[in-house]
Amino acid sequence: MTNWNDYQETAIAAAREAGRVLQEWSQKFTVSEKSRKNLVTEADVNAQDAIFRIIHDRFPDHSFLGEEDLAVENADSEFRWIIDPLDGTTNYVHQFPYYCVSIALEFSKQLTLGVIFDPTRNELFTAICGQGAFLNDRPIHSSDAEELYDAMCVASLPVGGTGDEPQVKQFLNVFPKARSVQRTGSAALNLSYVACGRVDAYWSGTLKPWDQAAGVVIVREAGGQVSKMDGTDFDVELPDMLASNSPSIQNALIDALKLD
Ligand code: IPD
Ligand code: CA
Ligand code: CA
Repeated sequence: MTNWNDYQETAIAAAREAGRVLQEWSQKFTVSEKSRKNLVTEADVNAQDAIFRIIHDRFPDHSFLGEEDLAVENADSEFRWIIDPLDGTTNYVHQFPYYCVSIALEFSKQLTLGVIFDPTRNELFTAICGQGAFLNDRPIHSSDAEELYDAMCVASLPVGGTGDEPQVKQFLNVFPKARSVQRTGSAALNLSYVACGRVDAYWSGTLKPWDQAAGVVIVREAGGQVSKMDGTDFDVELPDMLASNSPSIQNALIDALKLD
């Protein structure tokens, strides 16, 4: 049986170092647009360089996928690291303290390990498949809310959107049914918050693998639910994801997110 602790320790070291890089750059970065309203700074790129250096030094044969143009493919390796060096760049740019580093490891195409680090609160969310989820080494569990009416929800809306997107309609559909629907700007932290019970549900139709890979492992290990928005099986390569604390809220949201 594989001992995942070595992989996890490397991911944690990389996430903490990337968090240090983000804080170091927080007063001196410059901002560019990759596309309309899709921001990138030196902090994103330098944090990814730090993560890649640490993990690649330890596991030189593995494959890598990272948001900032990182794609290393080794067809002989069953391991692939999926990296978002800064999830929540818009928040970071505005010094809104809700952003994080997200690192996942896939083995044989299965999401196996997730590490998410929020350097603003020094919060480290971790999970290994089958071994539970943790916040700063303490076990975490998704909330026990049963009714959508009592649920604290978070949704993503398209970056640089026009307002005509189906996601806006879905947001408005859920809005009167839930206690609250927020848009907070970091998919990975939203998933971490579902895992530790601060949020009851989160969905998005516009995610990339690096936004969701680590968080999905952490939610599942915390006892939460993950599927596509229509209830079918989640696929990290597809942009569509719904996560929640429980089957009852998951089902209520699958229903509420249906478009005519
Ligand atoms: C974004 C955030 C946001 C989500 C976007 C992502 P970035 O990631 O996770 O919450 O709605 O789809 O692109 O660009 O800040 O790494
Ligand atoms: Ca992201
Ligand atoms: Ca990013």
